[in-house]
Amino acid sequence: MWKANAPANIALIKYMGKNETCNKKNIPLNTSISYILPKYLSFVEVSLYEGDSDLFVNNSQLSTTLYSNFSNNEISRFLQHAQFLKEHFEFEKNFSIKSWNNFPTGIGIASSASSFAALTKTIVAAIVDLKNEPYPSNEYLSQLSRVASGSSCRSFFQPWSIWTPDKAEKLDIPIKDLITSVIIIDKTQKKISSSQAHKLVRTSLLFENRPQRANFRAIQLIDALKNSNWQAAYKIAWQEFMDMHALFHTSDSPFFYITPKSWQILSEVQKFWEDNNDGPIITMDAGPAIHLLWRSDQSQLLTKFNPT
Ligand code: PMV
Repeated sequence: MWKANAPANIALIKYMGKNETCNKKNIPLNTSISYILPKYLSFVEVSLYEGDSDLFVNNSQLSTTLYSNFSNNEISRFLQHAQFLKEHFEFEKNFSIKSWNNFPTGIGIASSASSFAALTKTIVAAIVDLKNEPYPSNEYLSQLSRVASGSSCRSFFQPWSIWTPDKAEKLDIPIKDLITSVIIIDKTQKKISSSQAHKLVRTSLLFENRPQRANFRAIQLIDALKNSNWQAAYKIAWQEFMDMHALFHTSDSPFFYITPKSWQILSEVQKFWEDNNDGPIITMDAGPAIHLLWRSDQSQLLTKFNPT
């Protein structure tokens, strides 16, 4: 039996919009930058299976703190990726696959990044073990995982990761040990998946210069973080997630993730910064949840932030 786990990640510079002219899957149009969410993990366990094809063992009642209740669509994505990896390594035996998360899906933390990173690690470990081949580098695993879920390629590097159209890698930033938190706004399943969002944003008139804007912000963010200019990093991250959501709001047809409750928290964060001249970096993904990142020396300050 082979087991591995992988963490989720949150992007401060977003991957939104794929390169449709490239023959490889999930190649981004712009650089993205993420921070790892070390508390949010996906786990995968695989063993050899005698059946005619791979088997995904779903378990909806694992425990009260572990979640493994995947939809048919999610299961077929797992099986498709397992098949891709087997073909890639020219491996013909079948696997029985189990997976679970220590966080529920639909709360604003994309489980696909951690799930596919964990699946890639585990299946590859099993195959290379059985074939007596060396275990590939994280860079190589990241490229394989990207094929299943673009953002999963960033989950191989900690704590900061940078993903350019060529590859994902560790980003060397002196500010580490951030305190990350998620404000859950709405637990209902989102109507537009990130795969649909990647396509729809291309219909927005704002999309034309989107890669340039994101790439420029990536440079600005690295500069701000390397120079410990936290306030500049906060402003860049704010502009960036608002830019992505503006694409959503101006697509044909438009779609929205920001709810009245999200707006309220956003303005509370803004007020907190004004009052304290300091505060968290804030971002939102393709969902209503709000992600906050605090520096480790802000542990006192963060107790003053009590969103309503
Ligand atoms: O990896 P995907 O196809 O689920 O896309 C993720 C897109 C965002 O989460 C909205 C942004 C990002 O960079 O993670």
